[in-house]
Amino acid sequence: MPHGFIPADRVVVVTGAGSGIGRALAVRAAAEGARAVVACDIDKKAALETLESIPGSYSRRHQALRLDVSDETAVAQAIAGIEQRIAPIDLWCSNAGVHRGEGLGSEQDWDVSLGVHLRAHLYLARHLVPRMADRGQGWLMITASAAGLLSDLGSAPYTASKHAAVAFAEWLSANYDAAGITVTCLCPQGVKTNMNAARRDGCPGAGTNYLEADAVAADAFDALGSGLFLVLPHPEVAEYERRRAYDREHWLAGMRRLSKTRASATA
Ligand SMILES: NC(=O)c1ccc[n+]([C@@H]2O[C@H](COP(=O)([O-])OP(=O)(O)OC[C@H]3O[C@@H](n4cnc5c(N)ncnc54)[C@H](O)[C@@H]3O)[C@@H](O)[C@H]2O)c1
Repeated sequence: MPHGFIPADRVVVVTGAGSGIGRALAVRAAAEGARAVVACDIDKKAALETLESIPGSYSRRHQALRLDVSDETAVAQAIAGIEQRIAPIDLWCSNAGVHRGEGLGSEQDWDVSLGVHLRAHLYLARHLVPRMADRGQGWLMITASAAGLLSDLGSAPYTASKHAAVAFAEWLSANYDAAGITVTCLCPQGVKTNMNAARRDGCPGAGTNYLEADAVAADAFDALGSGLFLVLPHPEVAEYERRRAYDREHWLAGMRRLSKTRASATA
């Protein structure tokens, strides 16, 4: 039975917290009274800037940490270090992401995308979930994407790695609920962040309804409060997913048409 998460007095870790949705999640957790927010990012300076953007709170309560989420040893050390220095981790927001690889992408694009969007979550399952299970409770939030339910025609590595993230989140939720672990999966469509700043204007698909990161973080914390699995800040994604499941052939016919339109627009 999933449990709702109330941030007050909790220890919250956010990865990819140096920018965009991760920064908004960290600020939101602090605003909702978290005892400590640990803002992790591969870019430590950006994580520190996130702490500075928390109103009146650049104090010892909150911390910034350089962490490459695709490095298992670093993730294991971060978990052990935070729990030793601060307290047991209540919520880990596994949010770091990259948008790499046009079309099929390179071998490196696949390595990085799978490292950040899939293996990072696996490392949590190996090193944090057993600690949470011993305590009988814990919350994980995995930021996947609407591309993990549907498709991002521009990038195969992004689409496939995000589908993997959704599948892994569902697997965790099904298998660890009995241990008291509640899993939430955040699947936004377009959000105004650094990730897509260059692609937002003048590109096919630029008609996407781009949300502010703060609004996405607000939806995420509402869902966490209710113990919900799936968070869809763009409600239309639920309808797209229904149509895809209901008639895959019809869905794919539409995607093929969209792909041709994109190809001719960029030719
Ligand atoms: N922006 C969107 O439209 C959108 C839509 C759906 C899903 N998402 C997902 O939301 C999450 C956050 O993306 P964003 O839009 O805020 O992008 P962003 O580029 O603004 O932020 C991503 C952050 O992740 C960090 N990061 C990258 N690789 C890392 C690594 N190996 N270890 C630790 N940190 C790393 C970056 O330094 C950056 O600070 C991602 O998982 C992304 O795929 C974004």
